[in-house]
Amino acid sequence: MNIWEELPKPFLILAPMEGVTDVIFRQVVAKAGRPDLFFTEFTNVSSYASEKGRANALERLEIAPTDKPIIAQIWGKEPEHFKETVKALKNLGFSGVDINFGCPDKNVNKAGGGAAMIKTPELALECLREATKNTELPVSVKTRLGWAKVEEYKEWLPLLLNEHPKALTVHLRTKKEMSKVPAHYEIIPEIVKLRNEISLETKLIINGDIKNKEHALKLHQEYKEVDGFMIGRGVFANPYCFTDHTATREDLMKLLYLHLDLYEKYSKKHQVSYEPLKHFYKIYINNFPGASDLRAKLMETHSIKEAREVLRKV
Ligand SMILES: Cc1cc2nc3c(=O)[nH]c(=O)nc-3n(C[C@H](O)[C@H](O)[C@H](O)COP(=O)(O)O)c2cc1C
Repeated sequence: MNIWEELPKPFLILAPMEGVTDVIFRQVVAKAGRPDLFFTEFTNVSSYASEKGRANALERLEIAPTDKPIIAQIWGKEPEHFKETVKALKNLGFSGVDINFGCPDKNVNKAGGGAAMIKTPELALECLREATKNTELPVSVKTRLGWAKVEEYKEWLPLLLNEHPKALTVHLRTKKEMSKVPAHYEIIPEIVKLRNEISLETKLIINGDIKNKEHALKLHQEYKEVDGFMIGRGVFANPYCFTDHTATREDLMKLLYLHLDLYEKYSKKHQVSYEPLKHFYKIYINNFPGASDLRAKLMETHSIKEAREVLRKV
C-alpha cells in the first residue's frame, strides 16, 4: 500500500499549515473542491510520546471522512519518539507519514526541530530512518532548500534522497528567506536531476507561491518531471483553488456558514477559542462592495453567536 503510487500526475496537495489546515478547515476545502491529498498540521512527536501531551496530539490528528486520503505530518528531534508516534498513525486512518524538516518557527527551531534539522543532518537522517523502520505507511519529507544559503540544497537534498523517501516536498526557499522572497523556481531542473540520479522512485513535489490549479498545471508544462504541486497560502486567496470554478459571493458565504457550523460542532469536544476563527473571515468576505465594513464588524465580535447576528443583518 503506497498512496503516492495511486495519485494522478501531476497531483495537487493542500500544504500543511499550523492553525489553518485543521479538521475543520480541511472539510471546508473539501466542500469547495478537494486537492488530491491532504496533510495535517504538524504534530510534535515528543508531545505524542508524553503522557501529558498525548491527548492534545491526538486531537490534532483527528480526521474526517472527507479528508481521506490524508498524510499525518510530524516533527521533533528524538528518534525514539518518532518510532513511538509512527507506530500509532496507521490505526488512526492515515495513508502516510510526512516529516517536517522545514519549519522556520523560532520555538520549533530552538527545540531542534523543523528547519533546524538541516543543520544537524545526522540526527535528521536518524529520525527519518527510525520512522521508516517502524511503520508500513510510506514515509515522506517536507523541507526547504537550506538553512541560510540556497546552495545548501546541493548537499542537503542528496542526503535525504539517499534514504529513498516515498516523496519529497521542497519549499523553494531557505529558512532564512522565510516567505519574503519569490520561490526559486529556477532551481527546479537541478532538483529534478538530483531526484532522477539518486532516487527515481521518490515522488517530487514543489511548493512555494503556487496560486491555484491553473498555475500548478502551467508549472507542470514547464517542469514535466515534477510529480506534484503543493499549495499553501493560495487557499486564503481562493478556497476553490483546487478547481476550475470561479467562486461567487454566494459560494463563499456558504463556505463561511459551513465553517461556523463545523467550528461549533468541534468546539463541543475540542478546546478551541473563538479568536483564531476570526482570521478566517477574510477568506470568505472579500472582493465585494461592503466587504471590508462587514469584516470590520465581524472582527469586533466575541463569539459565534455575535458573528451570526452580524451576518443575519447583511
Ligand atoms: C500559517 C502557516 C502555517 C504553516 N504551518 C506549517 C506546518 O505545520 N507544516 C509545514 O510543513 N509547513 C507549514 N507551513 C508552510 C507551508 O506548508 C508552505 O510550505 C509555505 O506556506 C509555502 O507555500 P505557499 O507559498 O504555497 O504558501 C505553514 C505556512 C503558513 C503560512
